[in-house]
Amino acid sequence: MLRLLLLFACVCGCATKQQTFTGGAVAADHSLASQAGVEILRSGGNAVDAAVATSFALSVVRPFSCGLGGGGFMVIDSPTMEPVALNYRETAPSKVNQTFFAQNSSRFGSTAVGIPGTVAGLLAAHERYGKLTRQQVLAPAIELAKSVIPLDTAFENAVESATRAIETVPVEERAAYVGALQSITKQFSHLESGQVFPLQRISENGRAGFYEGDIARLIVRATEGHVTLADLESYEPRWETPLQIAIGDGNTLVCMPPPSSGGVAIAQIIGLLSKVRALEYGKSPEFSQLLVETMKHAFADRAEHMADSAFVDVPVQALLDDAYLDDIASRIVIGETQGLYSYGSVTPPPDDDGTSHFCVVDIDGMMVSATETINTSFGSLVYSPVLGFMLNNEMDDFSSPSGTNVYGLRQSDKNVPEPGKRPLSSMSPTIVAQDGVPVLVLGASGGPRIISSVVQVLLDILWFGDEPTKALERSRVHHQWFPDRVYVEGAYRDHDVEAHLHALGYEVVPRPNIGVVQVIQVEDGVIKPASDPRKGGKPAGIQ
Ligand code: DON
Repeated sequence: MLRLLLLFACVCGCATKQQTFTGGAVAADHSLASQAGVEILRSGGNAVDAAVATSFALSVVRPFSCGLGGGGFMVIDSPTMEPVALNYRETAPSKVNQTFFAQNSSRFGSTAVGIPGTVAGLLAAHERYGKLTRQQVLAPAIELAKSVIPLDTAFENAVESATRAIETVPVEERAAYVGALQSITKQFSHLESGQVFPLQRISENGRAGFYEGDIARLIVRATEGHVTLADLESYEPRWETPLQIAIGDGNTLVCMPPPSSGGVAIAQIIGLLSKVRALEYGKSPEFSQLLVETMKHAFADRAEHMADSAFVDVPVQALLDDAYLDDIASRIVIGETQGLYSYGSVTPPPDDDGTSHFCVVDIDGMMVSATETINTSFGSLVYSPVLGFMLNNEMDDFSSPSGTNVYGLRQSDKNVPEPGKRPLSSMSPTIVAQDGVPVLVLGASGGPRIISSVVQVLLDILWFGDEPTKALERSRVHHQWFPDRVYVEGAYRDHDVEAHLHALGYEVVPRPNIGVVQVIQVEDGVIKPASDPRKGGKPAGIQ
């Protein structure tokens, strides 16, 4: 309780002092992961080396959020390179087809597991851009895996949330999931993490140390053959061209293309806010209402059009087209909200918390923005103590036969599962470059709230001049088009915004928090990192 009160006092009252560095910084959602990245920067590693070390460390210290059993997206940029994006999202195993989840769970157990991509992704990024050896960048995580990590509030909250989720499963199926939860908690807080073994294998043998041999066989066994050896061996991360979208004042948004919906949605929201001249209302309840309306449009288009563009046509250019945004903007009226089907370009349908984001900046201004996930807290709850990591339940991000997924998101038939297809995602690792030089790096966890929290922190910094720490302490709103309600933060309440939206006829629903954002801004050579107080992370840096 005291911890909660302190956090609340800090978020609502005293502003946290902005830390500054000049030699590089890492903002992760656990201080030990930030420190692991900084250790690598100090040893002469660049931002990618540090990002890889941070991610492997997160696998150990945030096993309920991300890790070897999951996947992610990464955006990399520097003053001297063209930006690149890396898609290492989990992929549907060969056994999954379009009707598979009508009979099988996408939420718990083996059938929920997608082929993990994190290890292949990190090693691909390291191979292409890293300066240090693989052994060097894995060393901090192996060290952490050999130690006892103190349980923190975020871990306890995740256990609580997974325990509540297990209660939705038929009683006779619960024992395995409860056992998995107990086993990982015990290993984490009493013994060394089981991850020493897989991390060492990866350090010694690279990609083959995970996708072939003992570790691969253990994953196949843990998923009762749902993920096969062939699935693992054939997994490849995909290098992509990031979306680059001008957002005014010389700023360019550098972000993920599909199957992330975040890049398009964030660009749509910012484009629409500019078109309705929202900035003229300042940081006011009126601004928040316009923001909510733009979110409704962006999430309506997400529901209708977005999925893995390697499988279906995603009309990215059309969704960002100026004339299209003009048309939508003309439908946004200050002080008014519309019915569900007035948003985006949706056609009415027939009737019918495990992620982590981190940012790295090195002394040369190279930036990495990465969001990684096992989907919900502790993923599928498929766990092998020998492996020490949880396997993801990313298959729930495909369109669900029940109409909505665990985040209440409605998604179209484009996003139905198929072998080798990657599910639509809200993960939105983002970099903002000013005249070609990266100046801001950010991203979030929180399912669909990723998109809305990233856009709000980005605007608080770029439009309202907040320091990163101040931007993270502000109250946020969230609207995902369906269900037709606006979420406000219970713990970080802004009563004026809430009353304003309520008076205008919105259904206003409080939720404890909206997104967990990590951000680093670089201004005149000064590096300003911040980790969201909502998950207790702490940045680190080099003076
Ligand atoms: O990719 C996605 O959109 C989800 N799997 C992200 C899940 C998430 O952020 C859970 N967070 N706390």
